[in-house]
Amino acid sequence: MCMNVETKPFSLVRHDFELDVAPDYLFMPNQTTKLFTKSITIYPHDVVFDIGSGVGPLTVWAAKEPSEHVYSVEIVRSQFDLLMKNLEKNNVEDKVSAYCGSFFGPFQPGLKADAIIADVSGIAEGPARALGWYPEEIPTGGYDGTEVIIPVLEQAGRYLHDGGRLYFPCALDLSDGNKIMKSAASNFRNLERKVNVQFPLTAKQHEDLVASVKEEQHYIKTDRMKGSRNVWIGQIYEATDPIL
Ligand SMILES: C[S@@+](CC[C@H](N)C(=O)[O-])C[C@H]1O[C@@H](n2cnc3c(N)ncnc32)[C@H](O)[C@@H]1O
Repeated sequence: MCMNVETKPFSLVRHDFELDVAPDYLFMPNQTTKLFTKSITIYPHDVVFDIGSGVGPLTVWAAKEPSEHVYSVEIVRSQFDLLMKNLEKNNVEDKVSAYCGSFFGPFQPGLKADAIIADVSGIAEGPARALGWYPEEIPTGGYDGTEVIIPVLEQAGRYLHDGGRLYFPCALDLSDGNKIMKSAASNFRNLERKVNVQFPLTAKQHEDLVASVKEEQHYIKTDRMKGSRNVWIGQIYEATDPIL
């Protein structure tokens, strides 16, 4: 595939850097990406996993934090290829091991993390495509937005060191948030909400969102307002003490 690649500046918590991106073809790092960096604490010598790394914003960010090493996994080959370029562009390739694959599958048996960043696809198929956030080639969270996050919640505990943390998103209005949180509570003893943000939608985005929702998708909320603007709620949780 011939993609238009451009270089964009990103300003995440404590670190400003540039990434090659392809907005028409690949997932474009967005407000949720930034929200993750506001929620995550990386301690000196932490081993970090970035599952669903896209073109690498959180991998590069975690490598610039005082981490020991970052292991990242992305399922879409073209995103993985750009991720590899972005590691070199930011001189962090020695501190990162990146794999094209699914979830924890590519890791050597026994590899564990102190912090797992799971910014995996968590928006339901209809809204994800209608809002233009997920280009055609990028997997969404499926019909109810839970199909990628729930397997991570179920598996992550086995890959955490004692005291380790999992960070995961809940797009409360654009996925079945109750189902995600139920799975989180049955896989971890402690859940702490780190951020809860109302993101505004443009009038056109709201119109497209409403048109994308199927009648039976009651969990997708399209009427939340802040002042005169339609909004959706994005949350990030820290999960600790897995139930194994
Ligand atoms: C919401 S995007 C976030 C990407 C990146 N963290 C960012 O902020 O730009 C979710 C990413 O998860 C990836 N993904 C979906 N299913 C996956 C799986 N089974 N294993 C690894 N990555 C997956 C998607 O391809 C996509 O790049």
